[in-house]
Amino acid sequence: MCGIVGYVGASAPSSRPRDVVLAGLSRLEYRGYDSAGIAVATPGHDAVALAKKAGKLVNLEKQLAERPLPESTIGIGHTRWATHGAPTDANAHPHLAAGGRVAVIHNGIIENHAVLRDELLAEGIEILSDTDTEVAGHLIAREVLNGADLATAMRSVAKRLEGAFTLLAIDALEPDIVVGARRNSPLVAGLGDGEAFLASDVVAFIDYTRDAIELGQDEVVRISKEGVEVFDAAGNPIEREPFRVEWDAERAQKGGFDSFMDKEIHDQPTAVADTLKGRMDDQGRLVLDGGIIDPYVLSSIDKIIIIACGTAAYAGMVARYAIEHWTRIPVEVELAHEFRYRDPIVGIRTLVVAVSQSGETMDTLMAVRYAQRQGAPTIAIVNAQGSTIAREADAVLYTRAGPEIAVASTKAFVAQITAAFLLGIYLAQLRGNKYPDEIDALLDQLEEMPAKLQRVIDESEPVRQVAKDLVDERTVLFLGRHVGFPIALEGALKLKELAYIHAEGFAAGELKHGPIALIEPGQPVFIVLPSPRGRAELHSKVLSNIQEVKARGAKTLVIAEEGDEVAAQNADHVFYVPAAPTLMTPLLQVIPLQIFALELAQAKGYDVDQPRNLAKSVTVE
Ligand code: G6P
Repeated sequence: MCGIVGYVGASAPSSRPRDVVLAGLSRLEYRGYDSAGIAVATPGHDAVALAKKAGKLVNLEKQLAERPLPESTIGIGHTRWATHGAPTDANAHPHLAAGGRVAVIHNGIIENHAVLRDELLAEGIEILSDTDTEVAGHLIAREVLNGADLATAMRSVAKRLEGAFTLLAIDALEPDIVVGARRNSPLVAGLGDGEAFLASDVVAFIDYTRDAIELGQDEVVRISKEGVEVFDAAGNPIEREPFRVEWDAERAQKGGFDSFMDKEIHDQPTAVADTLKGRMDDQGRLVLDGGIIDPYVLSSIDKIIIIACGTAAYAGMVARYAIEHWTRIPVEVELAHEFRYRDPIVGIRTLVVAVSQSGETMDTLMAVRYAQRQGAPTIAIVNAQGSTIAREADAVLYTRAGPEIAVASTKAFVAQITAAFLLGIYLAQLRGNKYPDEIDALLDQLEEMPAKLQRVIDESEPVRQVAKDLVDERTVLFLGRHVGFPIALEGALKLKELAYIHAEGFAAGELKHGPIALIEPGQPVFIVLPSPRGRAELHSKVLSNIQEVKARGAKTLVIAEEGDEVAAQNADHVFYVPAAPTLMTPLLQVIPLQIFALELAQAKGYDVDQPRNLAKSVTVE
């Protein structure tokens, strides 16, 4: 939700600040693409140079080709997901103040911006945009004009702001530093050799360094050629231990694919394999990536609540079936934004598991904080290293999917399911619900999954073809039962997100209670069919559901287990996936649905990496 980047490095003015900032913005476009902008400062100039444009980064790049920026020593850039103010040139960041001396960029929402705006207007300050950001810029400029250095100005203004923000500012008269502050929005600093970076996500500077520092709540940062200085809200310097990013720049490239999404679909076998690697020690204990929850506490929990949003919540729904089955602990799965407003029953014996790719989703973060206030132990299943949810939860289990750039989540989903399974297996072992040989068998079965995912991807041509044939459909339904139900929901979500067509997922058993009224001749219906070997009664019930929609003229597209001949007899199209243990089949069944949405959206000519109106990381409530 808005991507921001800042760079300091060049001793003499050069094009590097501009190049680094623009490259960073292209990596951060997944966070929003309503407008893009850049500001640079050059020693000897009393105002910054600015370029900004509504629409995707490419519009800004075109403008810069016609009207290049001067060479500079520092730069900041922004890619926007609009909250306050329409996505216009005027509302694009950076925003200027003090006659162009100060430039600011912002991610988040400043909730008291109206009061601050009135204060500035009363002083006769002209405000040119509808944004909450510009207000912060004028407040910083006021401090600077009164003689404060930029870091001090940032610190005193940050104290006056309410809500969520990451703010970066530059001052034309201090063209060797960039200053930032954060509250409830992400900010990381990158440590280069004679240069330094600030960004919403390490992916923005991964080409230059893998050494990064995560900024804490209400901290202020000042970067210069000499390095990174961090201060608390009172201005005291803070020592922060750098961390090394586990993946390198290559993992953030398209790697020969047309889109990040297609590449990330292909990354899934590796994402599952890496998430499994080295997870259990010789005594069968789960190896966490950070923090600790006393095994005694885990042995005595009597409820688990999984909180998440979007695709991560569907991963939680899949995990629920497995964790309950393996541990006999009741598991609830709840959308994070609903959880904290309904007065949930949470206490010290409730384990709260937050699932999030970005680790920054505001709704999920707020739910974690709520759970902690109730005394609940919290575990984060998160993909982005060093992100806020990962740091704030009591313990973290990273999904090692590598950077996920496409807005619609794919590889993070299978990695989240895998990590949640590991947690379930560990709890089962700890609480004695499973014998050691049963634990080993489950782990062996999981180890076999990456090769099976690979086969689904390798054999995906039929679903790609069908997607192209269905390009003109206006609505597609998805049915699933048991662990197939969340997969139906995820299949529908992928299609909505990417192809902008109406798609609805239903529990197959619910069909007769309403959704069947939607079936007209020719209506495409995807059905996730359970294995006939796993739970035969579920298989035959879903077969009946297929016949019910077929009898009413539906076009049936069935995802079935290899060798299931009956599926073929009932389907207009059948897509086979390898046999797997019942609870693990979602890892395979979701892949044809991801590919279907990708191909159909591409056939419509849409940008699958950056679907309209969406942002990958939603850092507002
Ligand atoms: C947004 C994204 C979804 C994602 C959801 C949760 O809505 O568009 O793809 O599933 O946020 O994100 P998280 O980072 O918490 O997994």
